[in-house]
Amino acid sequence: MLFIFSMLLSMKLKPFWVLLVMHFGAFAMASAANHDVASSEIEANALLKWKASLDNHSQASLSSWSGNNPCNWFGIACDDGSNSVSNITITRVGLKGTLQSFNFSLLPNIVGLNVSYNFLYGSIPPQIEALSNLKSLDLSSNKLSGRIPNTIGQLSKLLHLNFSSNGLSDSIPSEVGNLHSLLTFDIYDNNLSGSIPPSIGDMLNLQSIHLFNNKLSGSIPSSIGNLSNLTMLSLSSNKLNGSIPPSVGNLQKAKVICFIGNELSGEVPKEMEKLIDLECLQLADNHFVGQIPQNVCLGGKLEYFTAGNNSFTGPIPESLRKCYTLKRLRLQQNFLTGDITNFFDVLPNLNYIDLSDNNFHGQLSPQWGRFRSLTSLMISENNLTGVIPPELGGASKLQILHLFSNHLTGNIPQELFHLTSLFDLLINNNNLSGNLPIQISSLQQLKYLEIGSNDFTGLIPNQLGDLPSLLILNLGRNKFEGSIPSELGSLEYLSSLDLSGNLLSGTIPSTLGGMKGLEKINLSHNDLSGGLSSFDDMVSLTSFDISYNQLEGPLPDIQAFQNATIESLRNNKGLCGKINGLEPCPTLRGKSHNHMTRKILVAVLPLTLAILMLASFVFGVWYYLRQTSKKEQDRSTSLLRSQGIFPTWNFGGKFMFENIVEATEYFDDKYLIGVGGQGSVYKAMLPTGEVVAVKKLHSVPNGEMLNLKAFESEIHALTEIRHRNIVKLHGFCSHSQYSFLVCEFLEKGDLKKILKDDEQAIAFDWSKRVNVVKDVANALCYMHHDCSPPIIHRDVSSKNVLLDSDHVAHVSDFGTAKFLNPNSSNWTSFVGTFGYAAPELAYTMEVNEKCDVYSFGVLALEILFGKHPGDVTSSSIGVASKLDHVTLMDRLDERLPCPTSPIVVEVVSILKIVISCLIESPRSRPTMEYVAKELAMSKSSIFNATKT
Ligand SMILES: *[C@@H]1O[C@H](CO)[C@@H](O)[C@H](O)[C@H]1NC(C)=O
Ligand SMILES: *[C@@H]1O[C@H](CO)[C@@H](O)[C@H](O)[C@H]1NC(C)=O
Ligand SMILES: *[C@@H]1O[C@H](CO)[C@@H](O)[C@H](O)[C@H]1NC(C)=O
Ligand SMILES: *[C@@H]1O[C@H](CO)[C@@H](O)[C@H](O)[C@H]1NC(C)=O
Ligand SMILES: *[C@@H]1O[C@H](CO)[C@@H](O)[C@H](O)[C@H]1NC(C)=O
Repeated sequence: MLFIFSMLLSMKLKPFWVLLVMHFGAFAMASAANHDVASSEIEANALLKWKASLDNHSQASLSSWSGNNPCNWFGIACDDGSNSVSNITITRVGLKGTLQSFNFSLLPNIVGLNVSYNFLYGSIPPQIEALSNLKSLDLSSNKLSGRIPNTIGQLSKLLHLNFSSNGLSDSIPSEVGNLHSLLTFDIYDNNLSGSIPPSIGDMLNLQSIHLFNNKLSGSIPSSIGNLSNLTMLSLSSNKLNGSIPPSVGNLQKAKVICFIGNELSGEVPKEMEKLIDLECLQLADNHFVGQIPQNVCLGGKLEYFTAGNNSFTGPIPESLRKCYTLKRLRLQQNFLTGDITNFFDVLPNLNYIDLSDNNFHGQLSPQWGRFRSLTSLMISENNLTGVIPPELGGASKLQILHLFSNHLTGNIPQELFHLTSLFDLLINNNNLSGNLPIQISSLQQLKYLEIGSNDFTGLIPNQLGDLPSLLILNLGRNKFEGSIPSELGSLEYLSSLDLSGNLLSGTIPSTLGGMKGLEKINLSHNDLSGGLSSFDDMVSLTSFDISYNQLEGPLPDIQAFQNATIESLRNNKGLCGKINGLEPCPTLRGKSHNHMTRKILVAVLPLTLAILMLASFVFGVWYYLRQTSKKEQDRSTSLLRSQGIFPTWNFGGKFMFENIVEATEYFDDKYLIGVGGQGSVYKAMLPTGEVVAVKKLHSVPNGEMLNLKAFESEIHALTEIRHRNIVKLHGFCSHSQYSFLVCEFLEKGDLKKILKDDEQAIAFDWSKRVNVVKDVANALCYMHHDCSPPIIHRDVSSKNVLLDSDHVAHVSDFGTAKFLNPNSSNWTSFVGTFGYAAPELAYTMEVNEKCDVYSFGVLALEILFGKHPGDVTSSSIGVASKLDHVTLMDRLDERLPCPTSPIVVEVVSILKIVISCLIESPRSRPTMEYVAKELAMSKSSIFNATKT
């Protein structure tokens, strides 16, 4: 008996249990103990069997899983009463393997199973039905495939089911309808097909349904109207057809309904007007006809309404006129009609409105200038008349103004130049007149300026050359006269220039060769004269038109002209070259054959040959470099300029862009949470309720290419990684205006900020700091040694380590990481943050894992010192070996009390390791694997230290 009692104690039972045991006496104690030991042993064996089926790395992550008491294993929680396993939470540890060897029937008491963000593959075993007490099941973000087992319906106590972001296929089993308690149903981002089972209407308690990004077809079951507690319904990005069932009007609590990107048709049922709690209704990209429900904003809560790209007719819904909550309205690409002159009241929250490509008429109301939140105003391709009202200059946040293809008249009002955030101004194809004012240069953000096909007159202002970000400039088909200003040559990033169909004369300025990024140029139908030597440096050019001018002389020797057709050259004064339809250029005078020249030839030939060989070598190298950089540039600019959205992963797919833009109100500063080397970071709450960090790329005037490159490498590195100490990447978007990453949001922000703030630094005590150092070591060890090919971070610094609410560190900012391909050169341009970079980078530029080891050393000291150890490292170049941990102990952060036993042992052990990380010779530095192991062992040395 005594034996059993001591065994119970050694199992670390809760005091409650011990008391109970003592109270009820020996007999009860013995039987309870027998039962518990037996059941926990069975559970332990079941878990160990599963562990054994996983790959070696996963088994290493579960190293604490041994013995027969699972209750203190990593990721396992036990029920206080019965002491049996109740909850399994193993996320983001890189588990690789299947669920087939998981004997669910031996773990019947589990209420929570969460193995999300791992690499589990294979199908979901039907035996999962044995988990009959399960309340929460999260298998999301793995690589699971096959169909969802019918037996899922047996989990009748389930409240939350999440299978999202896997590769599940086939149809949704109708048995899901048996999950009568279910509150949230997330199976988005899979390959599910077939129709939505009508039994979905049996899950009467459902509050949210996310089925987006699948291949679901058929119609929306009418039974969905039974779900009276539903607040969130997202069916976007599927192939659903048929019309919306009127029963959707019964979803009285609905706040968000998303049908974007399906094949839905017919009229939108009037019953939808009953949804007075609606905040977001997305109907865009379907085949709807008829009128938009007129009372769509009846409840007065609507913020987002998108109905674009359908076949709606009739007027704008009347209730939108005074929909003061409205933030974003998209009705473009329909057949809507009506006079929109003063249709809208001033809507103070509206930040985005797109009415383009409809049949609206009337004038552009001066009222628009009073929309203080407006960032995008798009009413192109309608039948607007009248002038651009000067009052529009009051809409001070305006970034995008699209009024092209209307019948606007009058001048560009001076007030428009107050809109200094404007980057996209498209007013082409109207009847506008007057000059292009020189104040255009106050619009420093302009990337797109298109004023073609109007009646503008006068000179082209030189000041256009002061718009450093300009990518597209279209002044064609106006009545501009005079010469092309040479200042345009400073538009380094311009990719398209259209000056055609004007009255321009004079020569093509030689400075235009400065437009190194130019891909398209159209100078046709002017009165330009002289030669084409300005084109010689336009290495990116892919298409041009210089027809109908007075140009003469030989064609430039660049690729675009070698492939030219006569159409783009015709009707000039005297162009010559090897193009069909063009005179060949007169060759240099014929060679003379006299004795003298032959003599000179004999003397000069060897030298000439040598020079020629050298020259062709130099040319070869130059050509190679040029081709390479051109390719890079092509890729970057096409990335940059593509109107489409790039492939994205996880929630929302191509709608991510919209969601992010909506959530951040076009990257409004009020959502800004930080600015890093490569981008600004915003906090955004998606329509799904998820909070994410959005990192928007800086548009540095001369850094577009560099940044995009960095961006792509960040994406690739991050999507491959799932680790508890590495920031999770959710997705990526590239759009003509913005490119950004969507990452997990971490509450506490970056280490640099935390260490700077006294209050936070004090809360960040020694044991938390020690753990953060270990976390970072684990993350780097994983990247260097468990990823294939290995990933070098190259910019480890306190700005790139984020903490979550539990002070667990997550390494972020892989913008400069590059896969270490064993076959490729590691030589590359310098990256990294000053003060963290390994000394060898200063002279060799050789980047390898050991650079990270050095930066890790600096960072670990910073964490312990509470500030960057500046002088220690700079004076230590060459003398790191002379550093000793005793001197370093004097520098520990004074805001904290001195570390005492047992934590001091770990602090000392970090200092000892850090010294070796800072050794000047990269080869003498330890690997991160060694560092991580040493740090993990320092814990066990505590026990030795405290014992003695
Ligand atoms: C996993 O570990 C076992 C035993 O340590 C070894 O035999 C096997 O080769 C390892 N497998 C891999 C893929 O490393
Ligand atoms: C399971 O454990 C996790 C983490 O400790 C906790 O957040 C969750 O609420 C638990 N679930 C259940 C059903 O007890
Ligand atoms: C809906 O929610 C209410 C309030 O939260 C709750 O009382 C009710 O049981 C839920 N289920 C149904 C089917 O109404
Ligand atoms: C524009 O509106 C005018 C009258 O307001 C009408 O005569 C004309 O046909 C309309 N044009 C187009 C293209 O709809
Ligand atoms: C020129 O034409 C050739 C053959 O038609 C084609 O392969 C090449 O891509 C073209 N080059 C450019 C710059 O258009």
